[in-house]
Amino acid sequence: MHVTRRTLLTTAAGAAVAVSTSASPAAAEVSGAATLGTLRRAADYAVAKLRAVAPGVTGFPVGTKFEKWTYSQNGDWVGGFWPGQLWLAWLYSGEEQFKTLALASAEKLAPRRTDTGTHDLGFLFYPSWVTAWRLTGDPKWRDGAIQAASSLIKRYNPAGRFIRAWGALDDPKNAGRVIMDTIMNLDLLAFASRETADPRYLDIAVAHAKTAQRNFLRPDGSTPHVFDFDPVTGAPLGPNTVQGYSPASCWSRGQAWGIYGFTTIHRRTGDPEFLATARRLADFALDRLTPDHVPVWDYLAPQAPDDVKDASAGVITACGLLDLAELTHHRRYRDSALRILTAVSRTCLTAKSARAEASVARCTRNRPAEDGVEVSLPYADYYLLEGILRVLDRSKVDQAIDLSSV
Ligand code: GLY
Repeated sequence: MHVTRRTLLTTAAGAAVAVSTSASPAAAEVSGAATLGTLRRAADYAVAKLRAVAPGVTGFPVGTKFEKWTYSQNGDWVGGFWPGQLWLAWLYSGEEQFKTLALASAEKLAPRRTDTGTHDLGFLFYPSWVTAWRLTGDPKWRDGAIQAASSLIKRYNPAGRFIRAWGALDDPKNAGRVIMDTIMNLDLLAFASRETADPRYLDIAVAHAKTAQRNFLRPDGSTPHVFDFDPVTGAPLGPNTVQGYSPASCWSRGQAWGIYGFTTIHRRTGDPEFLATARRLADFALDRLTPDHVPVWDYLAPQAPDDVKDASAGVITACGLLDLAELTHHRRYRDSALRILTAVSRTCLTAKSARAEASVARCTRNRPAEDGVEVSLPYADYYLLEGILRVLDRSKVDQAIDLSSV
C-alpha cells in the first residue's frame, strides 16, 4: 500500500475509534440512568447559568473573551441563538422570565428581516422568530420570518442553482461563493413555503441543497467548507476554505452543519438522497471521533486529531445524529449522539469557573484567523440545550422548532 500522511491519519483515527467502542467510560454508559443523570445535570447547569447571566446581557452574545460574553448589537450571524436558548430554557423550566427575555431579544432582530446582505437569515430568524410564532401564536413573528425568507431568496443564483453566502448583492466579490453552513438556513425557506403555500421558497432550498450535495461531497463523506462557482455561468470552479485548514480538509463545524442540515431538508421533502447524504457526512465524522468524543476543529488538519477542539461542532453533530437516528432507526447514531453530549457535559462545561458567563467552553470560531480559539460560543450553548432536550423531552424541541416530517 502506498502510505500517505492521509492514510496514516485515517489509520490513527480508526485505532482511536476502536478504543472508544470498547474501553471508553462514555461508551460504557451510553444508555441508562447515568447518562440521563449527566444530561439532566448539564441542562440544569445551563439553565442556572442563563438565570444568573441573562438579565445582565446587553446585546447578542457572539463569543467570550476571558470567559465574559462580547456582544453584537445587530445580531451578526448569531443573533437567533440567544433568544433561541431563552425559549428552550423557558420550555425546560417553565420560568416566565425566560419568555420575557426571549421576546425582548427576538424583537431586537426586527431590522434584520430586510437584510439581503447575508445568507444567515435562517440562523437569525428560525430559533428566534419562527419559535416565537410557534410558542406564542402571535402572527407578527410568523410574518417577520416570512419576510426574512423573502430577503434570503434574493440571494439565489439561478445559473448555478445556489444561494450565495457572503457579500452585498451588488458586490461581485464572493458572488460565486457557496459555503456548507447555508444548508442550515434552508429550513426558514421550508417554513415560508408551508405558511404561504408559495412553493418558490422550498424550490430554492431544494435546488441549493442539490447543488451542495453534488459539489461538496467527497467520496469518503467529508466536505470542504467552501465551494466556488462562476457567478455568471454557474459552472463549478472547485473547493475552498475560510474557516477550515485547507480546501482539501474537513472543518468539523461545517461537517456538523451538513449532518444537521441535510437531515432537516430530508424531513421537509422526504427526498431519500438527502438522508443518504446526511448519513455519509455523519459516518465520516463518527469515524474520526476520538475516545474523548469532542471533535477536533478540522478532521483533516495535519495535526488532527491532536489539535484544538471545537465542542460546538460536537453538540451540533449530536443534534443532527439524534434526528438521523429517528429517521433511519440506526442505533449507532443515537448512541454516538449520547456519547458526544455526555462527553461535552463532563469535560467542556464551565462548571469550575466562577467567572464564566457561558455554559460550554472549548469551542473554536475561526482557527486560521486565530479568532476565538477554545472559547465559548452562543451556538454551542444553544445546541447543547437543544440536544439534551431532544433526549430528555423531544416534544419540547418539537414545540420550539418543529420536528415533523412530510
Ligand atoms: N456559520 C459560521 C460558523 O459556523 O462559524
